[in-house]
Formats: sequence, structure tokens, C-alpha cells
Amino acid sequence: VVVGERRVALITGAARGIGAATAATFAQRGDHVVLSDLDRRVESVEYATSSVDDLAATVASLAADGLSVESAPADVRDHPRLADIVSDVVGRHARLDYLVANAGIASFGTTTWAIDERTWQDMIDVTLTGTWNTCRAAIPSMIEAGNGGSIVLVSSTAALKSLPTIGHYSAAKAGLVGLMRSLALELAPHWIRVNTVHPGGTATPMTENERSESWQASVPGLNETLTLPMPIKRMEPSAIADTIAFLCSDAARYVTGTTAVVDAGALLR
Ligand SMILES: NC(=O)c1ccc[n+]([C@@H]2O[C@H](COP(=O)([O-])OP(=O)(O)OC[C@H]3O[C@@H](n4cnc5c(N)ncnc54)[C@H](O)[C@@H]3O)[C@@H](O)[C@H]2O)c1
Repeated sequence: VVVGERRVALITGAARGIGAATAATFAQRGDHVVLSDLDRRVESVEYATSSVDDLAATVASLAADGLSVESAPADVRDHPRLADIVSDVVGRHARLDYLVANAGIASFGTTTWAIDERTWQDMIDVTLTGTWNTCRAAIPSMIEAGNGGSIVLVSSTAALKSLPTIGHYSAAKAGLVGLMRSLALELAPHWIRVNTVHPGGTATPMTENERSESWQASVPGLNETLTLPMPIKRMEPSAIADTIAFLCSDAARYVTGTTAVVDAGALLR
């Protein structure tokens, strides 16, 4: 792919949902987008995550619209693979401007203290360590390219409000805020900004599956606290993508270290 002076973005968890919507939004405004997603299964996830075929299909459909995209399968638990992807991308394009660490999983316990160790560990490995892996794979090249840039970590309202039974998810997503704050300070001298985005309920395969719906219905009080004050059941993924795109634009050139909430009012409850 010949990219010229296009800005280059790497997005994880990009085969579908919020990641795919973000890839489409970036590509439509003229960025070159590298879409990454799983190349294996995550053991404790009870709904289908994306496959390499799903990623290929998403990339093919964006390419069919004439957009500048490429596919780079990787599990975010696999740091060497992420580092290879970054060095390949920067080798060809000589830049990496935007990094969206969006890959994530959901899993559902009955109480936080009784979550099994596999489920706890997978959540920390994918959500927290996977995001750190994504950042440490990309940051040296972003600094070296010398163009500044923007990093967005996709967290959740679960990092900021109490939700019963998913303390592992809340802990991992809250961990991203601490990670973001350290990185934002460390990278400010390089003109690289770092922010978290905190979606409320968004219509993606993570929420719109039988296991997630039955969990939401079975925990007392959960439906009430997750119901969005604005009159919509769940937000469309492109609404989250628009905020990520703003943070990854010159319009947000001094926005760093912030926790951007996009939740149709969910934190008000
Ligand atoms: N949907 C919501 O209501 C909601 C709310 C708050 C936060 N989020 C967060 O938004 C992000 C995107 O989720 P989504 O709602 O689009 O769900 P989704 O399941 O549709 O998309 C997540 C993507 O991440 C990929 N993924 C999972 N584990 C991975 C790994 N180890 N390595 C690489 N890729 C991996 C999946 O295959 C999937 O394609 C997640 O971090 C999620 O926690 C979602």
C-alpha cells in the first residue's frame, strides 16, 4: 500500500463493534488504518470473539469502498507479534500517528470474590496487560517517527461506577486509567497525547449476545443501573468512534490525560 503523507493508525479489536466503527471513521477521513484482531481463542469467554476470517471480511469491505486499510492479526497477549506488526507498518509507512487499544472481552460471574482464577487472569491478561503490550509495542516507533500522535485506551463506565458481579472487568478497566495517566505525562514532551474513552452500553456482539443478556437480566438492580437515561437501549458503535476520532485529531491537540465519557448519561445513575 502506498500511503504518502496520510496519517497512519493501528486499532486493536478492529474486526467488529467499536473497533471496526473506529477503523471506518478514520479511513473515511483519509487515514491509513491497520486493523488488528484475535488469531486464537480466549479460553474463558462465553460468547464468540472474532476470527481471522471476520477480520479479513471487515478489511475487505472497507477496501471495497476504496479506503486505505490493511489487516494484521494478533492476540494482544502476544507482545512479540504486536512489535513485529508495528515494525512492519513503520518500515513501510515511516510513521504511526494514532494507536487505539480497543481489544477487550467480557465475562460474567455471580460475585466478584467467587470468579474463577482462569476468568480473572484472562481478563487481566487481555484488558490490562494486553493494552500495556499494545502501547509498549507502538510507543518507541511513535517517538522515533517524531510526528507526535495520540493514543486512546478504550475503558468503560465500569471503571468509574460500581457494577455488581464484574469486579474483574471494572478492576482491569480502572487499571487503564492509571496506565493512561502515567503514559500521558511521560509522552507529553513528545507531543503524544494519551486519553481513555469510557463507553456506556453500546450495541456490539459483546453486549448483544444471549450470555450477556441473561447476565444483565439475572443480577438484581443491574438492568436499572445500566439503563441509559437518554432514550436509547444501547448506543451505536459509531458514536464511540466519533469521540475516539476527535481525540485522534488536531482539534484535540492539547487534550491529554483525560477520561472521556460517552455514555448517554449512564454515570448519572
Ligand atoms: N459494548 C459495550 O457496551 C462496551 C461498553 C464499555 C466498554 N466497551 C469496550 O469497548 C471495547 C470494544 O468492545 P465491543 O463492544 O466492540 O465488543 P466486541 O466483542 O464486538 O469487540 C471486541 C473485539 O476485541 C477482540 N479481542 C478480544 N480479545 C482479544 C485479544 N486478546 N487480542 C486481540 N483482540 C481481541 C474481539 O475478537 C472483538 O473483535 C472493549 O474493550 C470493551 O470492553 C464496550
